[in-house]
Amino acid sequence: MTKETIKIPDLGGGEGVEVIEVCVAVGDVVEQEDSLLVLESDKASMEVPAPKSGKVVSIAMSVGDSVSEGDAILELEVAEGSDEPASESAAESAPEPDAAAEQTSAADDDTDGGNDTAGAAQPASTAERTETVKVPDVGGGEGIEVIELCVAEGDEVNEGDSLIVLESDKASMEVPAPFTGVVSAMLIKVGDAASEGTAIAEMRVAGANSVSDAKAEQTAAPAEKADAPMSAEPEPKNEASTAAREGASTSSPSPAPAAPGEQVYAGPAVRKLAREFGIDLSKVSGSGPRKRIVKEDLHAYVKQLAKVPAAAAGGGIEPIPDVDFAKFGEVDIQPLSKLDKLTAANMHRSWLNLPHVTQFDDADITELEDFRREMKKEAEQRGVKLTPLPFLLKAAAAALRGNAKFNASLSADGESIVYKHYVHIGMAVDTPAGLVVPVIRDVDKKSLWELAEETAELAKKARERKLKPADMQGGCFTISSLGNIGGTGFTPIINAPEVAILGVSKLAVKPVWDGDSFQPRKLLPLSLSYDHRVINGADAGKFFTELAQMLADIRRLLL
Ligand code: COA
Repeated sequence: MTKETIKIPDLGGGEGVEVIEVCVAVGDVVEQEDSLLVLESDKASMEVPAPKSGKVVSIAMSVGDSVSEGDAILELEVAEGSDEPASESAAESAPEPDAAAEQTSAADDDTDGGNDTAGAAQPASTAERTETVKVPDVGGGEGIEVIELCVAEGDEVNEGDSLIVLESDKASMEVPAPFTGVVSAMLIKVGDAASEGTAIAEMRVAGANSVSDAKAEQTAAPAEKADAPMSAEPEPKNEASTAAREGASTSSPSPAPAAPGEQVYAGPAVRKLAREFGIDLSKVSGSGPRKRIVKEDLHAYVKQLAKVPAAAAGGGIEPIPDVDFAKFGEVDIQPLSKLDKLTAANMHRSWLNLPHVTQFDDADITELEDFRREMKKEAEQRGVKLTPLPFLLKAAAAALRGNAKFNASLSADGESIVYKHYVHIGMAVDTPAGLVVPVIRDVDKKSLWELAEETAELAKKARERKLKPADMQGGCFTISSLGNIGGTGFTPIINAPEVAILGVSKLAVKPVWDGDSFQPRKLLPLSLSYDHRVINGADAGKFFTELAQMLADIRRLLL
């Protein structure tokens, strides 16, 4: 094993380029071509790859350092007999001096060698003229992918505004407008492979802002800024976009994602990672210099996505826009109760997590209603009210006993089903404070009188807000009865982790054909929502038929 010092390769003469990311740590084992550093100038970022494989022994640079060719990056422990000295091969491995080279080599080049690519060598004129803007010298890189168009036809752009973003494996660079003017035609699109001289756009350029003026400004720039290009190459003048970014960061104390239309500012490695994860970088807040998005920002964004409850995130759906309703008329804003908010979150969570299917049926409860009426007096003597609900509970309990999948829950990891040997049923109770679901235990073991008594008691407790958490836990199934309120049918939301819920609507007398004639029958509209991951349509059909049969002939409850 020998130690080799890895140095900054030829950056095309660039001096003082900023280190914006150190991609390795002491002890890391790197492969040849793995990125060691990301450097960034005003208009380009580039990754410096490892010239050979080895173990990082020490790192001589940190984020924020200003570096130039030949500066030591790190010491690498490499296997004996490894080819050339690392410092040389580092220079050779520089993937594409690309962006940085473009920026800095331009500084050496005081000829107008690059002018033709940008059309900047055109003679100055006072009349409006059309200029074709081309990809400048990108350090010899060929077929570099266009990953972003920053302008569209008809846009007015200032000299220095970014027109497109190019990205190779190791570097991304923005190509700035060499003129102030209007984009009359875009000649390139996202996904195209561009090389030096590839036409980007046609621009209508005002005569007053002629090439010679632009050139004069550009050649004046290096005097103010030592590392700025001196040629009439497209000037890396990103003040406009930088100002926009800085403006955004001052208006918001914490980093905010790029505003719509604002350019995303990220290096090639981050862009690549974002593409792999399918992340829209415009939604990610950048914490790097000038709001640059670094890898840590991506990690934080992904972590945050994983944490946000589905109820709040809406399953990745765009949130409902904030509307000022008062613009359209008088309004009254009341805060939601705690219970309302909890119910909303639970409903949303169930709705988004469970694939719901709802089936409908009518139970003929003509005989049940006759019996109930007959029992009214006795019920009064017992001090209870015998509504259809105890019958529904009893019939549901029997159907749950006979259809085990309905009396079950899916494990949180979705790997198993938990079958329950008890039958506890929740009943939705509408209270002034909101909806609550107390649970009646062992429904299958209780008589109709007991159930009538208990439901009335629990409903009273619910309305007086006297329910304890234990009164609302352990349900296997829920009944939501809107029968005394109205409606012909509805699609109840399952109270997860239960797998089904029964909705009860208002009893109606309807003509039913008995084979000879229509008979007036009391039909109770029922709707059964179930979790389609656990229960299929045939299961539901069977459950529903049994339930309806028991309600139609309550003698069956004894069987
Ligand atoms: N069709 C017609 N009438 C019905 C009926 C139905 N499906 N269900 C009940 N009724 C009748 C009852 O028989 C009673 O009339 P009666 O005194 O003449 O017998 C009347 O409506 C009032 O019944 P109620 O006091 O509400 O008792 P209940 O046992 O039917 O219901 C609760 C008890 C707690 C379930 C009910 O009061 C409640 O809060 N329901 C709302 C549930 C809810 O909000 N669900 C929505 C969830 S999103």
